[in-house]
Amino acid sequence: MKKKLLSVLLAVSMMATALVGCGGGSTEETSGDTTEATGDAAEDTDAAGDSASSGDGVQVGIVLPTKDEPRWLQDQAQFEKLLGDAGFTSQVLFSQGSSATEKTNVETLISQGIEVLIICAQDASAAAASVEAAKAEGITVISYDRLITGTDAVDYYVTFDSVAVGQAQGQYIIDNAPEGTGIPLYLYAGAATDNNAFLFFEGAWKTLQPKIADGTFVIANSSEAVAVQDKNELTRDEMATIIGQITTDWDFNVAKSKAEAHLTAVGAESKGDIVILAPNDGTARSIADVFSTDTDVTSYVITGQDSEIASVQYIIDGKQSMTVFKNTNTLASDTVTMAQKILAGETPETDTTYNNGNIDIPSKQTNVDVVTKDTVKSLLIDSGYYDASEFTGLE
Ligand code: GAL
Repeated sequence: MKKKLLSVLLAVSMMATALVGCGGGSTEETSGDTTEATGDAAEDTDAAGDSASSGDGVQVGIVLPTKDEPRWLQDQAQFEKLLGDAGFTSQVLFSQGSSATEKTNVETLISQGIEVLIICAQDASAAAASVEAAKAEGITVISYDRLITGTDAVDYYVTFDSVAVGQAQGQYIIDNAPEGTGIPLYLYAGAATDNNAFLFFEGAWKTLQPKIADGTFVIANSSEAVAVQDKNELTRDEMATIIGQITTDWDFNVAKSKAEAHLTAVGAESKGDIVILAPNDGTARSIADVFSTDTDVTSYVITGQDSEIASVQYIIDGKQSMTVFKNTNTLASDTVTMAQKILAGETPETDTTYNNGNIDIPSKQTNVDVVTKDTVKSLLIDSGYYDASEFTGLE
């Protein structure tokens, strides 16, 4: 009993800290109509019993990286809807780019008696300690979208096919590049702390490299990539060295200042008609804004990822060439289905495994689609993912 009281008090104080740092969660909206589900679960486990009898139990805790990218807000909305509809109590907390906040968020959720933790890590290796703490409490851990590395404490992984994302970006560049050879290629990558940044880069590099080796493209902004341009299969260390040079940290401002620095550093031979590998939509828009204001850049092809509304508008307006559609509704619903099975004491369905450096993790993987001006309507509007009224100039 004392232990319970302590954990509730701890939860309240941690919640207060976490809410200041990261802007809140959703327990209030979801807990009201799910008392029965919490009550049922309480019969099964001690942790749920504790929190259920205190009246404020949370069954499923979700930790997402940041509110500053629309992508994660879509994930949040889906989780709240799907878990609420399924009758589960849940709470979503954001780490706002900080591994320390992420750790506090996980501790908060643990002290609330969660049975399943769904976590999209800020930093793949730093998150290991947090999930180990959850595991020690008997919580089932689902690594969401980004793989947590270097630990045995991840039970499942739900992800998009991230290598395919990079391949799609690379292939788009090849298929839409200007005619001829010696085309300047600018490379950008995600955060080195995100395992996905490696998978995206791996897919793009494997696809683009033969066209670099044969002289179609000339890397304009990475001496480290030039150093290995004859190799199709890079080691993790080689990729880390390149990513170290061309990382955007998934941050628009970093992307912008790198693009500015690159254009200042290169000569006229690296301008004209060019192609750009940008890792996601937020960074693509910043990089595109920089390149489009350089009068010596006559045309550019630029990739993206996530199908953010602002980037879909850029595509309609001809300012971004493509994006990769990762249907976050599917990813969230696969994860909720998994959580439901876990809470029912069953084994969830998986279709592949990912190795995180320690173990092979049973994983559920979802495919991705390429969005261009021609497919915005069929993929994003007709499917109901977005409403046409969110865009202007849509045909
Ligand atoms: C990745 C994620 C992408 C992307 C990026 C930036 O890990 O898979 O969809 O948005 O993070 O947050």
